[in-house]
Amino acid sequence: MKIGKKEHARRRKQLMAQMDPNSIAIVPSAHEHIRNRDCEFPFRQDSDFFYLTGFAEPESVLVLLPGRKHGQCVIFCRERDASMELWNGYRAGPEGVCEIYGADDAFPISDIDDILPGLIEGRERVYYAMGRHAEFDRSVMEWVNVIRSKVRSGAHPPGEFLDLDHLLHDQRLYKSATEIKIMRKAAKISAAAHIRAMKYCKPGVNEYQLEAEILHEFAMNGARAPAYSSIVGSGKNGCILHYLENRDTIKDGDLVLIDAGCELDHYAADITRTFPSNGQFSTEQKALYEVVLKSQLAAIKTIKPGGHWNEFHDATVKVITKGLMELGILKGSLKALIEKEAYSEYYMHRAGHWLGMDVHDVGDYKVGNQWRVLETGMVMTVEPGIYISPDNKKVAKKWRGIGIRIEDDVLVTKDGCEVLTKDVPKTVEEIEALMTVGAS
Ligand code: GLY
Ligand code: MN
Ligand code: MN
Repeated sequence: MKIGKKEHARRRKQLMAQMDPNSIAIVPSAHEHIRNRDCEFPFRQDSDFFYLTGFAEPESVLVLLPGRKHGQCVIFCRERDASMELWNGYRAGPEGVCEIYGADDAFPISDIDDILPGLIEGRERVYYAMGRHAEFDRSVMEWVNVIRSKVRSGAHPPGEFLDLDHLLHDQRLYKSATEIKIMRKAAKISAAAHIRAMKYCKPGVNEYQLEAEILHEFAMNGARAPAYSSIVGSGKNGCILHYLENRDTIKDGDLVLIDAGCELDHYAADITRTFPSNGQFSTEQKALYEVVLKSQLAAIKTIKPGGHWNEFHDATVKVITKGLMELGILKGSLKALIEKEAYSEYYMHRAGHWLGMDVHDVGDYKVGNQWRVLETGMVMTVEPGIYISPDNKKVAKKWRGIGIRIEDDVLVTKDGCEVLTKDVPKTVEEIEALMTVGAS
């Protein structure tokens, strides 16, 4: 079910069909990063590079040359080296890159300064994501300057730089059948992990122990890394949107907010559930929870081809504002409260984002000045929340320190949408029933 060589070739072909015929695209791999001393962070390939190659080694560069007779796909990579491979693992080398990954031509990365100016020369336009890697930006300019220095000998430097992201990220926004299969699986694994954490939870366990349950479920199912750092916030920690410490002991009567998703074959899942540590929602927790859930369901209902990007956010704003009014937390008329964004003190983020190889995936949210129209194959999260700061003296004490978010991953289908993460319980009744069984 992995993305195969053919799909990578099809993606490159599709991208090159959008490029100017006399142009070149340059896509560098990700870098390795030192964590401390001799230890590196686990390497994660750059999503753009991986999307176009399936090749996961660092120190590599992809070059696309539409229309080039001797091959349109050139990859620079590390050479094979018995001693380095003994210490640090297998390398494909230029031969392997052609054989395994379908490059037309491949060269050692150590030769890039000698070879790449020759490939750029004569091409009018360079597609490149300028500004992402300062060091690589400098190399690109140096390669162009090599050509400029030879104009008197007839060399032809490129006249224009174009942002590759524009074309490539639009392409990545539409998921193929295989991508959707992988994302469905990532969602399933992540759903099982949330269920496991809910079942494990009881007052007295530590936030990091719930995180450990989740990561174990991911890894046991082939997803060795989370797609982002897991958030396990109990009590008032649930009001910190990016709480990552995960070190408090979970108290009786607290809610627990878990935002965690695995990465499977370079695709992300992103799920949030909020549940009571002791398996029973208190009256106030339940009242706020029902508002968030209602807003999330209303938002999901709007998602279908032809709808625009902001529609689901608007739906959450309306339901949350109304709900906060009914609970006496906001006062005034619905229209006026929405207009002056009174909800934003309690609901301060957007209702979702694109999801794909990156958790906050690529793709424009507006086209021209208009919100993007949803189309089949797009995947997004739907994640409204209400967070009542523990220090907010404007609201009655009983509400303070309650943080709730409910997040699902949603695929736009031709008839409407499919909730990829539907396996995790989310109604009050479902959660309480699951936690009662878990505790027995
Ligand atoms: N986990 C990051 C987010 O929900 O956007
Ligand atoms: Mn999330
Ligand atoms: Mn999210």
